[in-house]
Amino acid sequence: MENVRTENRDGVLVITIDRPKLLNALNAQTVEEIGAAFAAARDDENVKAVILTGGGEKAFVAGADINELAQATPMSGKETSEKGQRIFHAIERFPKPVIAAINGFALGGGCELALACHIRIASEKAQLGLPEVSLGIIPGYGGTQRMARLVGKGKALELILTGDRIGAADAERIGLVNRVVPAEELMAACEELARRIMTRGPLAVRAAIEAVMSGSEMPFEEGQFLEATLFGLLCASEDTKEGMKAFIEKRTAEFKGR
Ligand code: COA
Repeated sequence: MENVRTENRDGVLVITIDRPKLLNALNAQTVEEIGAAFAAARDDENVKAVILTGGGEKAFVAGADINELAQATPMSGKETSEKGQRIFHAIERFPKPVIAAINGFALGGGCELALACHIRIASEKAQLGLPEVSLGIIPGYGGTQRMARLVGKGKALELILTGDRIGAADAERIGLVNRVVPAEELMAACEELARRIMTRGPLAVRAAIEAVMSGSEMPFEEGQFLEATLFGLLCASEDTKEGMKAFIEKRTAEFKGR
């Protein structure tokens, strides 16, 4: 891969979007490479969690590549949007935790990419926004939908209609990011969080992601049905028995993912 680097740090896969000269802007190739990195990680038993971040000092991802977007026709624009939506959807439904380490600008497609992750941790230097209307377009990688679901329609519309960038503290205040940390502590904070989740039952973590991410797109009753079904399935796992037994025996559970 040319624009995406991966590094497995003892079970935590760090995926770095790495086009720093263009602030990691997402051209078609980079979007494909992000998709390929997640596809490879999905069934890789040595990957237990993913951290997604941007290369260089300044940016997580400063949006779709505007040079490429400028060439779009109605049909190619629609295809670009649909392809990005598919890949970002696969990230959202990824069966292992995905943490966005937002190390700088997360604008347009970069903000949408962060929105598709399960948890967002931002450096205090981060700036987030959906500036597409300034270019005469709208967010096309799920941003109009995910932003409204995450922060509510009022705040989402304010961000989308103004195109304004907000700083990390404001992003935390409106619930766009989970937490803000000093820049130099960002990767350590994300890794600590990933490793904490990795000590929990992996099947339960997987089921919880599915219940929240798929369930929240269903009518409430169906979401509850999904929750009960996954709950029941877990009751048949060795991990569930081990988790309860370890609690009763006052020791740390040793989960095997079975
Ligand atoms: N697509 C293509 N190139 C981009 C880019 C993007 N989304 N964002 C930044 N770049 C390029 C710049 O053109 C510049 O290239 P150059 O050195 O060849 O001139 C380089 O990255 C560095 O960016 P620059 O604008 O000089 O940095 P800055 O610190 O002055 O400003 C931003 C940073 C993020 C505020 C500014 O680059 C910006 O507004 N980018 C576009 C954000 C956007 O609208 N994204 C949504 C796209 S749909």
